[in-house]
Amino acid sequence: MKVLITDPIDDAGLERLRESGHDVETAYDVEGQALLDAVADANALVVRSGTEVTEEVFDAAPDLVIVGRAGIGVDNIDIDAATDHGVIVANAPEGNVRAAAEHTVAMSFAAARSIPQAHARLKAGEWAKSDYLGTELNGKTLGIVGLGRVGQEVAKRLDGLGMNLVAYDPYISEERADRLGAELVEFEACLEQADFLTVHTPLTPETEGMISTDELELMGGGFLVNCARGGVVDEEALAEAVDDGVLDGAAVDVFANEPISEGHPLLSVDDVVVTPHLGASTEAAQENVATSIADQIDAAFAGEPVMNALNAPSVDESVFPRIQPYIGLAETAGKIGAQLLDGRISEVEVAYEGDIAEEDVELVTASGLKGVFEPLEWQVNAVNAPQIAEERGIDVTESKRLQSDDFQSLVTVSVGNEDETLSVSGTLFAGDDPRIVRIDGYRVDAIPHGKMLVARNADKPGVIGFIGSVLGEHDINIAGMFNARRDDRGGEALTVYNLDDPVPDKVVERILADDRMIAVKYLTLNGEDDEGEDE
Ligand code: NAD
Ligand code: MLT
Repeated sequence: MKVLITDPIDDAGLERLRESGHDVETAYDVEGQALLDAVADANALVVRSGTEVTEEVFDAAPDLVIVGRAGIGVDNIDIDAATDHGVIVANAPEGNVRAAAEHTVAMSFAAARSIPQAHARLKAGEWAKSDYLGTELNGKTLGIVGLGRVGQEVAKRLDGLGMNLVAYDPYISEERADRLGAELVEFEACLEQADFLTVHTPLTPETEGMISTDELELMGGGFLVNCARGGVVDEEALAEAVDDGVLDGAAVDVFANEPISEGHPLLSVDDVVVTPHLGASTEAAQENVATSIADQIDAAFAGEPVMNALNAPSVDESVFPRIQPYIGLAETAGKIGAQLLDGRISEVEVAYEGDIAEEDVELVTASGLKGVFEPLEWQVNAVNAPQIAEERGIDVTESKRLQSDDFQSLVTVSVGNEDETLSVSGTLFAGDDPRIVRIDGYRVDAIPHGKMLVARNADKPGVIGFIGSVLGEHDINIAGMFNARRDDRGGEALTVYNLDDPVPDKVVERILADDRMIAVKYLTLNGEDDEGEDE
């Protein structure tokens, strides 16, 4: 598999990818057509904040399975476009949290004590001791905007340095804030009370520009620190506020457009400390995020859950072994249902009975949907299947029943059109042997792999022999067969054949031409191409 890396990541991540046998290519600082060319045959793309992963990039990369963000912020990745293209987007949200929090603390001190300014003058030979009178953090109020992972780590550290904490975060509970010793307040109150205001939100349409001239005026003195994302704070307004003495100072690690140019307004204001997006730049953080992304790429290639997928169902590692066998089973049940039902599918239900109903089955349901949509030749995978269902107006339901009448666990995928619903159920025999045990109300015992012929016929003597001989005449070997009837003798029956060889259309037509036959479908299941077309 080709893994393309367009922003530098730690060697530990590169090594892990190579050890897994991938073809790792680096192409730093590429953009425009060069990026589109580089990504054309990539199966995975790894970026930090430097690469804009736009819809065009997804259009140019038909084989892309996953985009890995070696870090937290994904504002440079068009996640909707990724989902449309069935590409997983995953980040590494834990690995650099401590580094970002420590940088925030360092920047707070740097601004409060003018460390970079004094350092630069001393290096230039000037002993400017009397020009700097700093501010202590101890006893001051820290206002935290965005009390997520980084915000909480900052809270712990600065609480320990004797600061009073207030926070604004509309999505976090008061209990959580309480446990950190922070008082949750409204945005304006946070601005008004803060001597130091630190920003830790993602960049979203809601947060973009949320701190500008009016908000800085509400602060009326004090320091602002932004180690989150450029664009949350209006940079021109901030430069003006510090220059005019509305604020005492500021420390900024992130900018709306990086790298910034020489004439950037924040560079010319003395009391503004700047760093070039260094929040996550520690050895430990870079190793953490790079290896986390390498592991997630491996999982994506192996079809396993991707731990920090942002647009695909993710599953706890401890749960995965219990649901894994049902992923393929639900997909197959969906495939059988979709191929047996004629007409436009308008609804899909994935139902769980017995032990499996106790598990987190989001990924199994997505796989059931994938199975239903795949025979319709929609470009589908477990990432985009729920979205495709919504876009095409297909009602999807998931139901659970802790009791199961006949099996320890049963997964049923039902597909419906305007007139009828057809259900296919699967279970595991002896713990891990997958079987299809019901099709359209008939009890069967079919292996959910490879080539399958499903025939509905009148329950009359000689039908099975007839089908067997037609298949035999065409050198089609029967690997297994199961016949079931719904009613008493003389009603309707269903026969499922597991086959070693493909069934050409003309053979299906020949069987169907017999007046005892009601319907005959040749199905190809997991891992099989449809070879049944007539040459
Ligand atoms: P997170 O998702 O854990 O936390 C973000 C918090 O912001 C959440 O609690 C959320 O509820 C809150 N939030 C969202 N919208 C809000 C709004 N309108 N007002 C107030 N709060 C709001 O993210 P994180 O891991 O803590 O990262 C925080 C930020 O730091 C991100 O922007 C991330 O990209 C950035 N970051 C930067 C660096 C760096 O190198 N400078 C390193 C790591 C993280
Ligand atoms: C992040 O969001 O993780 C940071 O921007 C860190 C980075 O990749 O530089």
